[in-house]
Amino acid sequence: QMLKQIITEIENRQNITRDQLALLLETTDTGDIAFLHERARKTADAIYGKQVFIRGLIEFTNYCKNDCIYCGIRKSNRKAERYRLTEEEILSCCANGYELGFRTFVLQGGEDPYFTDDKICALIRQIKAQYPDCAVTLSIGEKEHDSYQAFFDAGADRYLLRHETADEAHYGKLHPAEMFWKHRMDCLWDLKEIGYQVGCGFMVGSPEQTVDTLYEDLQFIRKLQPHMVGIGPFIPQKDTPFGEKKAGTMEDTLRLLSIIRLLQPHVLLPSTTALGTIHPLGREKGIQAGANVVMPNLSPVAVREKYKLYDNKICTGDEAAECRHCMARRMESVGYKVVVNRGDYH
Ligand code: 5AD
Repeated sequence: QMLKQIITEIENRQNITRDQLALLLETTDTGDIAFLHERARKTADAIYGKQVFIRGLIEFTNYCKNDCIYCGIRKSNRKAERYRLTEEEILSCCANGYELGFRTFVLQGGEDPYFTDDKICALIRQIKAQYPDCAVTLSIGEKEHDSYQAFFDAGADRYLLRHETADEAHYGKLHPAEMFWKHRMDCLWDLKEIGYQVGCGFMVGSPEQTVDTLYEDLQFIRKLQPHMVGIGPFIPQKDTPFGEKKAGTMEDTLRLLSIIRLLQPHVLLPSTTALGTIHPLGREKGIQAGANVVMPNLSPVAVREKYKLYDNKICTGDEAAECRHCMARRMESVGYKVVVNRGDYH
């Protein structure tokens, strides 16, 4: 009863205290948790209806100059088999994706100096020229303001850059000394100011994450007012220093999805591949907890296995068409319909 009141209060105030967050993460009362998910799903339904937006994810390079401790494509990982797609290959992923009903392409990659600003701009221009009815989302990491401006001027619509953690000390435990929390924050504010639809986000259950760091994440989201928030469980990758750490849980991820939906009713909230990796029905449950976006993979099957941020990633053997149809079925199984449009923020 008491927790249900707290959930209603969070919903009405669109705000949460540190202690309320702690209670929601700690409770074992299945009735209260079901109520949390129901309220979040109702909130999403009121704004987006029974629709789920799809984004075609194109993982175009796994070269990376960074060395994030948790990530399988960190530069120190000598076991990662590196690849880059050519411009032709990327465009053919888009062509295939367009046929399958995708109207957003997400170009995601490691921070790969081979892909200069000029190359990225040329790519954006080509995609926008061929598919003027599509949104282009970039997810290529930290750049300087002028690079972000150039990509935007070339036609990029959206940018995903997870902040990873809003707590500076925690950020230091997940990243090498050469990476700066402040720069990442500056990037997100620059992106917002330039006019992108911006996505931030974090891993759930990353090593040394606490209720307090999560509370800071929620406070940061409140300040930034992003259009999207990407969260998924941390999953250890065996060739990284965090290979033996324990994974984040589906339950915590679902609770946080619901909380974020109640705090930011309009936000675009993906039910992530990582969530589908730790549980076979993770993505469906994510939708039922308030998510409204899924991001099936459009990368060529030949490279799927190599874009290994974490172990046991799903769908690495399936062609884009299979992923697309599998996703439609999965969403239908919980009463939702994948729609053919850009899936803009409402
Ligand atoms: N487990 C889960 N997510 C990860 N990411 C990177 N490594 C892992 C991992 N081991 C996430 C980061 C990054 C996004 C592209 O993938 O949050 O921003």
